[in-house]
Amino acid sequence: MGILVTGGAGYIGSVLTEELMKEGHSVIVIDNLSRGHREAVAAGAHLIPVDLGDAPALNNIFRRNKIEAVMHLAAYTSVEQSMKEPGKYFQNNVVCGVNLLEAMLRHNIGRIVFSSTAAVYGEPEKVPISEDSPLKPVNVYGDSKLTFERVLHWYAKAYGLEYIALRYFNVAGASSRFGADHHPETNLIPIVVRAALGEIECLPVFGTDYDTGDGTCIRDYIHVLDIAGAHMAALEGFNKGKGNSAYNLGNGEGFSVMEVIETARKVTGADIPVKICPRRPGDPARLIADYNRAKDHLGWQPQHSALEDIIKSAWLWQKKHPGGYDAGR
Ligand code: UFG
Repeated sequence: MGILVTGGAGYIGSVLTEELMKEGHSVIVIDNLSRGHREAVAAGAHLIPVDLGDAPALNNIFRRNKIEAVMHLAAYTSVEQSMKEPGKYFQNNVVCGVNLLEAMLRHNIGRIVFSSTAAVYGEPEKVPISEDSPLKPVNVYGDSKLTFERVLHWYAKAYGLEYIALRYFNVAGASSRFGADHHPETNLIPIVVRAALGEIECLPVFGTDYDTGDGTCIRDYIHVLDIAGAHMAALEGFNKGKGNSAYNLGNGEGFSVMEVIETARKVTGADIPVKICPRRPGDPARLIADYNRAKDHLGWQPQHSALEDIIKSAWLWQKKHPGGYDAGR
């Protein structure tokens, strides 16, 4: 199929593009390269450096290429930044997405897989979290993603567009070629592996007084390759009439920050010095996915669920790319 991947030069988009190519799809990547990396686009994919705010450019892309489905990953993803600059997040994560939908409608492209997030649930009342749990985002990032889910819902009603919103939990790990390279990096596993490699002196642990076994926050870490696999399953899902719905993507198992660090120590053999810091504002104590809907409707199941494997893949990638894609340029 001809597939357009927005944000295909970013962390998840790069792995997704690689996997789509392996399956024989023809992939067009659009990315404004503000946070993505040219080097992260798999050979053979057609990278068009364009911003989703540029409606005429989008129209040209749809006119000139055979596109049958869209996978929309381009977004700003920093929770912290979103609280300081909400306008930027609604502009990029909602308004630019509407531009994309308008271009799709104009060119009769009827299917879109949207990269959503567990942040749409906010602080959950109970875990594991199913898709029917209350949607109460506690930060602008989560609300911008939820807003775009609502946009998709109304476009489906009005125009017959079909969408699948994939609510990622904590995506981590790497393929053998592509991994996480954010500046600044805020996610735990990339920071842990950098600490293991001595790129970071000491790992901050944000809060040890949560109501959890060891007092640190619990998250559901899901391998980036499994996230890519869910996008393929979503494409099939449209054919099975499973569109116009949201699906949680996680492993259904939670690990505390200290458990992640301990596992990383085992995997890497490094000490990983830590310092205990105050809580990071806005961190829910526990996020664990109930992914039964994705299993039942899309036939998706995580294939790389062991935390050791997730961390090991991130560590191997970081060793090959000290300082990230652009280092030494
Ligand atoms: N943490 C540390 N030290 C660090 C970094 C993180 O202790 O240096 C802790 C955090 O406080 C949190 C846990 O590790 O308790 C996980 O933090 P991450 O930043 O890795 O991930 P989050 O759960 O905050 O957020 C991630 C994505 C969001 C997404 C969310 C959905 O970054 O974009 O998952 O679950 F919305």
